[in-house]
Amino acid sequence: MAADAKGVPAGSAFGKPQPRIDGRAKVTGRALYPSDEAIPSPTYAFLLTSAIARGRVTRFDLDEALSMEGVLDILTYENVGGEAKPPEQMSGGQATTTLQSDRIWHDGQIIGIVVADSYEIAREAAFRVHVHYEQETPSATFGSPGVDEEVRKAGEHKDYHVGNAEAAFAAAEVKVDARYGTPTQHHNPIELFTTTCIWENGKLTIWEPSQFVYGLRGNVAKQLGMDLEDIRVISKFIGGAFGSKGGATARTAWIAVAARRVNRPVKLVATRDQGFTIATYRAETRHHVRLGAARDGRLTALRHEGWEVTSRPSEYNVSGTETTARLYACPNILTKVNIVHADRNTPGFMRAPPDTPYMFPLECAMDELAAQLGMDPIELRRINDTQTDPVTGLPFSSRNLMTCFDRGAERFGWADRDPRPGSMQDGDWLVGWGCASAAYPANIAATAARVTLRPSGHARVQIAGHDIGTGAYTVVAIMAADRLGLDAGQISVEMGDTALPPASLAAGSSHTATVTHAVAKACNELRDRIARAAVASNEGALAGCDPSSLTFSASRLIAPDGASESLEEALKRITPGALEAYAENIPKGLKPDAMANLYQGKPPMSRGHGREDVTAYAFGAQFVEVRVHRRTCEIRVPRMAGAFAAGRIVNPLTAHSQYMGGMIWGLGAALLEVTEIDPRHARYVNDNIAEYHIPVNADVCQVDVIMVPEEDSEVNPLGVKGIGEIGIVGVNAAIANAVWHATGRRIRALPIRIEDLL
Ligand code: MOS
Repeated sequence: MAADAKGVPAGSAFGKPQPRIDGRAKVTGRALYPSDEAIPSPTYAFLLTSAIARGRVTRFDLDEALSMEGVLDILTYENVGGEAKPPEQMSGGQATTTLQSDRIWHDGQIIGIVVADSYEIAREAAFRVHVHYEQETPSATFGSPGVDEEVRKAGEHKDYHVGNAEAAFAAAEVKVDARYGTPTQHHNPIELFTTTCIWENGKLTIWEPSQFVYGLRGNVAKQLGMDLEDIRVISKFIGGAFGSKGGATARTAWIAVAARRVNRPVKLVATRDQGFTIATYRAETRHHVRLGAARDGRLTALRHEGWEVTSRPSEYNVSGTETTARLYACPNILTKVNIVHADRNTPGFMRAPPDTPYMFPLECAMDELAAQLGMDPIELRRINDTQTDPVTGLPFSSRNLMTCFDRGAERFGWADRDPRPGSMQDGDWLVGWGCASAAYPANIAATAARVTLRPSGHARVQIAGHDIGTGAYTVVAIMAADRLGLDAGQISVEMGDTALPPASLAAGSSHTATVTHAVAKACNELRDRIARAAVASNEGALAGCDPSSLTFSASRLIAPDGASESLEEALKRITPGALEAYAENIPKGLKPDAMANLYQGKPPMSRGHGREDVTAYAFGAQFVEVRVHRRTCEIRVPRMAGAFAAGRIVNPLTAHSQYMGGMIWGLGAALLEVTEIDPRHARYVNDNIAEYHIPVNADVCQVDVIMVPEEDSEVNPLGVKGIGEIGIVGVNAAIANAVWHATGRRIRALPIRIEDLL
């Protein structure tokens, strides 16, 4: 309807705080996560994983394990190697291979699968398999002997060259030239990595927590050489993902193979420690940042080079220079990303995949520049703010970075900050205040949706989207309620199943923008048909009205003069049954083949920094107070504030939680989180959630979230930018900058620990 073109939803549900429609199911245990599915006569798988990081398997002794009662099968490369290809990665290239050959690529690689009548027997049998290896010396990470470094291949990644950054840096009046690092991190979703497979008449059903069921289906079809139509993937609820359940990993196809071999359903629930090596993680990064500026603070040169660890066979990388190159006005920009191959499992997305590790160095360097200039760090950002993408020259669809800084600074009380490091003290505590910018591209994908209006006036929405805990079911319900003039409680939503209309992945903060547009489109089609039927009927109250003038509200169709008819009555004018609409939405910037690609499992994503008309980003400003104990150097974070401008907020209630969760995660990333690697064995040491530290309630005090209103009709028709990632983006740097302000010490590698300050 006309209102959509202007990006103004006509209904009342959009933008109102709405409790989760699936909240009751979740707290009463009725929400079924994939491994909860009750399946007939299940068998249980236990993964055998490699005890070395590099080399090959020379022999398996399976006899002892196979002789145990209840053991049904043990898969190794020797008996199944040719049955499945390795999965393809979304970023291109292969994930590390597993049962295809005797080759060991990383510690904890899947080298066998034991299948038994019970989980306990499978686990015990796995311990009785004796594996013989030929071991080579592994290379663990940056600087290990034997790592291969390559400049990432062009075409896949754009290295930006604007002006002449080298010359401008050499000539700059004020310079920052510093190196930074971020560590290996693992998502550790509470729900473990699980896969359940059932074959029936040559058709395969997979229950697996997934951020992209169509993608998983497409990948498994290729791996097993099957038709897409013969595979169904179901993932209705997901107990945390954060990127770790986005791409296909090796286990899925092999569990399918196992189920085919034993001719019974097979269920795998991998252990917590196995989750560190059979799924993805955030690889460690290194950065070299050079900033040149004039005395007045204007940037004259920006050079950002990054290095990322990946596995031997994969070229996976996140490449956040796409954001850091375009954050500030600067006439001379040079970026470069290098990947470093080590004997490690293949990394993947993790919350705010590129921008969490890449914005940390830039936003610390900006703080260092402000200190050198004797300038307030917010003022430095104001001087370098821009409404034009400095790389492409395109306008930003909307950019309210400085509004975020102003609102955040006001809430935080930034004006009271004494800029001298170490100057603010409270007894034995050194107090530091730091800030940083946050940014995340506004991404949106092609997606379909089906909406059915029932005779009762209730509606059902079907879309193969994914609720990874963010509140996606509720967002879909809000959108349909808004368009149809219903309450969110009158909408039932089905998601997470390839039997439903194809939807793109829940990642890259794209899901809300993606699903709302498809749902709105299907609802608009319903509205149109119902409105036309209502005005065409001779006896109705709306006879002769202009159908496009009708509003849908409180289960009624209402004319501008106040005449109205109930939705149920209007529906009956078309059909005594249910009315259904199916719509596909291909956002601006994507080609018409987007839906076909999506169906195949390739996510058709229009990325905020890849468009030809505008550059579309959400922006934010983050503020942190740290207290560093004078004697023990313990670091506390009594308060954080984040202000974000991310277009229209569909559900402020769940949005608040997303922002807050992102900020708290940032606290953990800055001060606690690290996967420790034993460099001799290229092995993760703290592969459990006892030793992998994350913040608890006692670590998190005041967290203020400010949602800066923003209208943006350029980003997409509904003006939705997405919020899942941006909350974490600036926190690392804000904390490091606050630690400097408290202590005068610049800590440029995360996490910042007591020993860094002693
Ligand atoms: Mo998100 S880390 O892009 O799944």
